[in-house]
Amino acid sequence: MLSMYEYQKSSRFFAQTADDIKDFAATELAELGACDISPVFRGIYFNADKAALYRINYSARLISRVLAPILTFKCHSTDQLYKKAKQINWSDFLSTGNTFALFSNVSDSKINNSYYASLCIKDAIVDSFREMTGKRPDVNAKDPDLWINLFITRNKAVISLDTSGGPLHKRGYRKDSLAAPMQETVAAVIIRYTEWDGSVPLYDPMCGSGTLLIEAMLYYCKIPSGFLRKTFGFEFLPDFDKKLWRELRKDCDRRKTRLPKGLISGSDISSQAVKSARSNVNNIPEGKNISINNLDFNRANGLENGVIVTNPPYGIRMGDKEELGSLYKSMGDFLKQKCKGSTAYIYFGEREFIKKIGLNPAWKKPLMSGGLDGRLVKYEMF
Ligand SMILES: C[S@@+](CC[C@H](N)C(=O)[O-])C[C@H]1O[C@@H](n2cnc3c(N)ncnc32)[C@H](O)[C@@H]1O
Repeated sequence: MLSMYEYQKSSRFFAQTADDIKDFAATELAELGACDISPVFRGIYFNADKAALYRINYSARLISRVLAPILTFKCHSTDQLYKKAKQINWSDFLSTGNTFALFSNVSDSKINNSYYASLCIKDAIVDSFREMTGKRPDVNAKDPDLWINLFITRNKAVISLDTSGGPLHKRGYRKDSLAAPMQETVAAVIIRYTEWDGSVPLYDPMCGSGTLLIEAMLYYCKIPSGFLRKTFGFEFLPDFDKKLWRELRKDCDRRKTRLPKGLISGSDISSQAVKSARSNVNNIPEGKNISINNLDFNRANGLENGVIVTNPPYGIRMGDKEELGSLYKSMGDFLKQKCKGSTAYIYFGEREFIKKIGLNPAWKKPLMSGGLDGRLVKYEMF
């Protein structure tokens, strides 16, 4: 049996994040107390003490999870995988009353089936418990207590625990969702790109379910992204420090500020979207100060000397494209005529609409969202 796990010896962790937001995510990790930060493909390695690890999981807006490696080894067969996984004292992490789930990713290795790789670890966990107690913890693939991650590449396996306890972009405020809401981490990075600091109003004229509005509020009010999350994976680590976590959480919560009425507002042509946005913003106390109206942006007053941030619809079918072309043209006219002195950040799920808007971009940044190779485009209105 192992006496000390890998993350305990090295204090090194791995944050999963999308490649196109890695620079912002690395800066955020440093702000939250990480050090020795090294970005790699699809993630970032960093060092953190317990306080920084808890703070990162509670507050980070741009990463999707933080993995704590417990065992790394050469692995050429499922037999080896099973034997190594059995060396871990799984009762350090869970008891028979807990549930767990496995997430595997294998590439360039003799083991080439992630499903079987997961089964091996599952068997090792179940057999360890059965041999010790005659009982076993259950698997719950959707909402487990403990998320276990296996990564095998070039015959090297890493078994890690997910210290976040499920994807961090699931903040818990989105109870009511539309067909294509923007992912929270994408909305959060857009807010970072705007450099909005609350000195001028922020408005989303096509707010849908309100993700950009809510991420702007969380950022401005310094509300930790995990504010509504009930449990974190790090609570299952054998060296979890409950007192430190309680104090740290209190300390993060103490920094929260109020949202002035009228600072953040949104509107949408769809009454269903407005209903959903209202219900989502109200899941956070400051949300009552965000105003949301049921309005076609063509009939809206606009916003002068502020920040406009929005994610217009994108078309899938051909017929949609023509209609959408004129919607983007109207958006351009709206910005020119009713938003003088403002800066606009428009997320285009499909790049072909950029030319339809008829404005000169200040910059364009590649940003993936929901599988779309989109662009965030900045416009200055004079
Ligand atoms: C891609 S969705 C926005 C998704 C949003 N960011 C979210 O996270 O839920 C685009 C939205 O634009 C709205 N929309 C389309 N045409 C509009 C118009 N003329 N005026 C206002 N809203 C409009 C749609 O109702 C839809 O909710």
